[in-house]
Amino acid sequence: MHAIVVYESHWGNTAAIARAIAEGIGTEVRALSTAEATGEVIAGADLIVAGAPLLGFSLPTEGMLKGIAGNASKDPVAPDLSHPSMRAWLDALPRGSGRAASFETRIWWSPGSAAKAILGKLEALGCRPVAKAQRFVVQGKYGPLRDGELERAKAWGTELAKAMGM
Ligand SMILES: Cc1cc2nc3c(=O)[nH]c(=O)nc-3n(C[C@H](O)[C@H](O)[C@H](O)COP(=O)(O)O)c2cc1C
Repeated sequence: MHAIVVYESHWGNTAAIARAIAEGIGTEVRALSTAEATGEVIAGADLIVAGAPLLGFSLPTEGMLKGIAGNASKDPVAPDLSHPSMRAWLDALPRGSGRAASFETRIWWSPGSAAKAILGKLEALGCRPVAKAQRFVVQGKYGPLRDGELERAKAWGTELAKAMGM
């Protein structure tokens, strides 16, 4: 069974959750940025778990990322804008027949869902959901993650592996 966890992350919160999910799924599973998860790496994946932050009430748009790049010098921590958006990664993804799951990091009260948008796009490409879109919560605009979220992410990864019969 070949599973991959793919993420978009600008301040590290989604990347940290992705690593915890991968650890929960199994020792041989890696968390990859959208730049690392090339067609070759994901070919034949039985399970794709994809995650992104909720920015501007949405799965980050190219316009939102341009705004972040323009504002980078004012951020408390410089954003990592070195990898493609999840939106662009999904647009380039070929049709598949495996299973899918999605997650987002976000502030608890916000409207909108990046994870539901991701799962919808994966379903449209032919992947069948193995779980409901999942959310993990940060304490402030740039993080850090709420206490216990990494443990919850790892446990969710283990649940996904069970649901996959891994
Ligand atoms: C410019 C900006 C816009 C944001 N917009 C939202 C939002 O609409 N809803 C929300 O819940 N969180 C919002 N957040 C919080 C991020 O979703 C949160 O910090 C997320 O964990 C960032 O993920 P990353 O560290 O992986 O980049 C925003 C943060 C920033 C910096």
